[in-house]
Amino acid sequence: MKKNIFLFLFLSLFSNIILVAQNALFIPDTLSGTTFNLNVQKGSKVFYPGFNTTTYGYNGAFLGPTLIMRKGDSVTLNVTNNLPAEKTTVHWHGLHVAAKNDGTPYQAIGVGETWRPSFKVRNNAATFWYHPHIHPKTEFQVGKGLAGMIIVRDSIEATYNLPRRYNVDDFPLIVQCRIFDVYHQIGVATHDDTTLMVNGTIDPYLKVPKQVVRFRLLNGSADRSYNFGLSTNANFYVIASDGGLLSKPYSTKRMVLSPGERAELLIDFSKDTIGQKTYLMSYASELPRGVIGADSVGTSTLIIQDGYYQNHLNGRNFNLLRFDVGAATANPVTTIPTAFAPVTPISASLVNENRSITFYPDTVTSGKQGYVDGPFLLNNDHFEMSKINITTYLNNVEIWTFTNKTMVAHPFHIHDIQFFVLDINGNPPPPELSGLKDVILVKPNDVVRVITKFETFADKDVPYMYHCHLLHHEDDGMMGTFVVLDTTKATGIPNKINLKNNLTVFQNFSSNELTINLLAEKRASSKIYIIDALGRKQMDIWEGNLQQGENNFKANIDKLSSGIYFVIATGDQLQWKKIVK
Ligand code: C2O
Ligand code: CU
Ligand code: CU
Repeated sequence: MKKNIFLFLFLSLFSNIILVAQNALFIPDTLSGTTFNLNVQKGSKVFYPGFNTTTYGYNGAFLGPTLIMRKGDSVTLNVTNNLPAEKTTVHWHGLHVAAKNDGTPYQAIGVGETWRPSFKVRNNAATFWYHPHIHPKTEFQVGKGLAGMIIVRDSIEATYNLPRRYNVDDFPLIVQCRIFDVYHQIGVATHDDTTLMVNGTIDPYLKVPKQVVRFRLLNGSADRSYNFGLSTNANFYVIASDGGLLSKPYSTKRMVLSPGERAELLIDFSKDTIGQKTYLMSYASELPRGVIGADSVGTSTLIIQDGYYQNHLNGRNFNLLRFDVGAATANPVTTIPTAFAPVTPISASLVNENRSITFYPDTVTSGKQGYVDGPFLLNNDHFEMSKINITTYLNNVEIWTFTNKTMVAHPFHIHDIQFFVLDINGNPPPPELSGLKDVILVKPNDVVRVITKFETFADKDVPYMYHCHLLHHEDDGMMGTFVVLDTTKATGIPNKINLKNNLTVFQNFSSNELTINLLAEKRASSKIYIIDALGRKQMDIWEGNLQQGENNFKANIDKLSSGIYFVIATGDQLQWKKIVK
């Protein structure tokens, strides 16, 4: 490892010299309509002149086509795994789809197989993305090149005077940082990621028209956060967060995106002179400590490993993309809209469940070093394919509280839903985080509360995921599962229910009638029956789905011979009441 660091340093100096020549920014092709064919394939690409790098891509050597979908359309994706020897999955990050269509580790696609999810596009117009989610090789496969953008369009966004001509005045920018080894091959899971690229292009430039231009930014990096800004320090406008348009454009000079997050920006080049060159930069020197990409993670005595401090990008400002201003197009957009449809967070008064997810280091495995290097745990739990961590119910409105007890910032992501940030350490979210989100960066010691609703899809057998979007944290097990149950249907049989010492039985000795009352914390299924003193079942009373709150049942015990019995109600704790006939 030590020897490699010198070679990397040498290589990065060398590359800075040879790559002064800029490269035209690659713009992925688009696929649109209602059927999308994706081939996951192995390829090779020249990143460093004279060297072939082995890569993976969708329908090509590296990255994948931009999928353009319309809200309301029913789409089918035919995903064929043509990788020579490994399984993959494709996850539609941010899209609200059924768990079986979500492309998680539970929908692995074997070598040579085709996976065909079909779903209705339900999200608002926004920028999403797709990437592998195979456990524990997500970082490896994304690193090799598997990632692509999804643009959802809808009829509301279409009413605003916004740039939306792909590759004319609306550009995808997939920002990534990679590690190359001495053989010019892509490596994983170290902090030696010194090669920046946008859409797979190192040192890119883009000719932009002299007008208002839209950029769809995706941080597709394994762990680096960026603090976006312009080299002129001019303001730009954030118009959309992960899940869609904000209530209004937000004018700012800086915007942080952590891995997995997206934002849409407008930059007004209309007053620039033709030929002017401006850089999109990361002002990483201003990133708060603890965020990967900042100057420091940890403390003076506890230092993050694997070359973090040797990496010349950490804590330094750097260029990502050069804009070269050219002539305006026909029918340019020249103004910034003043407002969009108001985005109103779900009201906290509707909440019927609160959950806490606390990030801890696994100090059993790694001692104190775990605070900076992991592995990290969620509620002291480690991801296991066979475990369901959370059971929730269809139409539940929930507040999830994230508490970071580690020294590293973690971008937390929940599948299935979009959420609203309620507060960060008690303060309302800043404008760029006040729209729909599916990833939120939780810095060391932060407490972040989000509110969401689990709508549309229930499946008792197929879980969704929640996890840290730093890919090696995720691969190391900083991930959990949840199932959504519909208690009004057969899909709603939970594994366990929550009952709290709340079974009461009233016995009418003259009529032999039992009145049974069961107070349930949640909608959930239960069985109620009677056993005798030897534990043998004597009578079934009821089986079904409890309503939240009071549930009343009647039973007649005429048939039982005299003796001692117990009325049993099943739940996560068995409840019983003794009766005597
Ligand atoms: Cu973008 Cu579960 O991930
Ligand atoms: Cu996701
Ligand atoms: Cu993490």
